[in-house]
Amino acid sequence: MPEIYDWPGRLRQLAEFVGLDQSELDLIKSTSFAVLKNADDMTAAVYDNFLRFPETRRFFLEADGEIDEDRLTRRKHSLARWLRGSIDFKIDADYPVRVLATGIVHSHPPSHRAHLGSIPSRFMVASMSFIQTALADVLWAELDDPDLAMRASIAWNKVLMLQLDILLAGYVSETPTEPVSQQNPEDPAGPDARTDVTRLEEGGDD
Ligand code: HEM
Repeated sequence: MPEIYDWPGRLRQLAEFVGLDQSELDLIKSTSFAVLKNADDMTAAVYDNFLRFPETRRFFLEADGEIDEDRLTRRKHSLARWLRGSIDFKIDADYPVRVLATGIVHSHPPSHRAHLGSIPSRFMVASMSFIQTALADVLWAELDDPDLAMRASIAWNKVLMLQLDILLAGYVSETPTEPVSQQNPEDPAGPDARTDVTRLEEGGDD
């Protein structure tokens, strides 16, 4: 029986690895007024940056090449909702599954934008870096205590990296399971079954 992949276990393991503890999650909450005050500006900045580069801009264009303002506004709201939600980040069973679903939306384009393909994973990484920088700037500017700003920024960095790990896991094409060691005896294709492609690569059947 294959093992279902343990996303909460993975999150707990990495939280321990980076040393993310409850006091840091509390710090994110207690300084959240600074982030909430600037959440819309931060998400606007992320999207302005997307529009600067053709490879990210193309996800927000209409067929005639003009910016699809409605879509852009909806996407800004999604990102702002995600950012506000991250203030309540929890190392629990639900959080990683929700992040995984968000990752899959980016890696597996739905039919209405299938022609655009996946959002390249490098832009997921780069966006996270952009957001980390924006958060650090906001915390530095809004909090009177620079030590507090630095510690809050460190806590955010950990939370965002743990989310990035799972967002990128949405880019693998299969959920890892234990290796299957035995051929299904009821499978008509035996262990030597080869695809047409394999046969063609070997020179065809004749
Ligand atoms: C830190 C990285 C990112 C985060 C946290 C993020 C977050 C989100 C969230 C929460 C949604 C809504 C998902 C849903 O409806 O279930 C979304 C949708 C979307 N995002 Fe992102 N996003 C990120 C990076 C990007 C990048 C780099 C692009 C492209 C340049 C992008 C383009 C989109 C698009 C096109 C959708 C709509 C998906 C659809 O067709 O339903 N996102 N994003």
